[in-house]
Amino acid sequence: MPHYRIAPSILSADFASLGEEVRRVAAAGADWLHFDVMDNHYVPNLTFGPMVCRALAPHAVLPAGAPMPIDVHLMVQPVGALAQAFAAAGAALISFHPEASLHPHRSVQAIRAAGCKAGLAFNPATPLDVLDWLIDEIDLVLVMSVNPGFGGQAFIDSALRKIEQARRRIDASGRDIRLEVDGGIKAANIRRVADAGADTFVAGSAIFGQPDYAAVIAEMRAELGKK
Ligand code: DX5
Ligand code: ZN
Repeated sequence: MPHYRIAPSILSADFASLGEEVRRVAAAGADWLHFDVMDNHYVPNLTFGPMVCRALAPHAVLPAGAPMPIDVHLMVQPVGALAQAFAAAGAALISFHPEASLHPHRSVQAIRAAGCKAGLAFNPATPLDVLDWLIDEIDLVLVMSVNPGFGGQAFIDSALRKIEQARRRIDASGRDIRLEVDGGIKAANIRRVADAGADTFVAGSAIFGQPDYAAVIAEMRAELGKK
């Protein structure tokens, strides 16, 4: 069984208490903190930038005391300068949408040179073709199962086929690349998404806003443990 990771998206957290929300979700058993960066240009919404990431990093601590990796999902155009700013602000992983960068290969190299893991994010209608040329350079593939911009949307079923394709490409590469899925993930569908080949699961509205974060995460892990 792969080592599954659950990455709550603070897009659905209470923005008036972000530090407290990060501490609560870390204590509840989450693995990564998913940080959705929107610029009102690449997507029609605006969230937070590197200063907020830097402020939250000291609160992102796993129960054993290790830092909780901050998984930055850039929905911005252009990519370059903001990726560097997030690397300096404490991000462990930085993903971007290849169509938002004029030079995706260069963007990947720059993220890794800054000491972060690099990921490519694919919108529901974006093919995986760019992986033909970048799979040897990246650490993560992020398959979007909703259109980027908002939390709380319904899972788009065609993402399952794309996850299967991405899994085949990753396995053929022989490299250690995580396959993350983002959008509409709940305890009720996480098993299906894992069966398609995903190993890392973003969940925003399914966790934040619920009374008991630990109960939701435990329910997701129980589903993932089922055969
Ligand atoms: C959408 C974001 C997602 C979003 C997921 O643009 O990339 O990370 O927060 O939220 P849910 O889990 O509510 O679909
Ligand atoms: Zn995201």
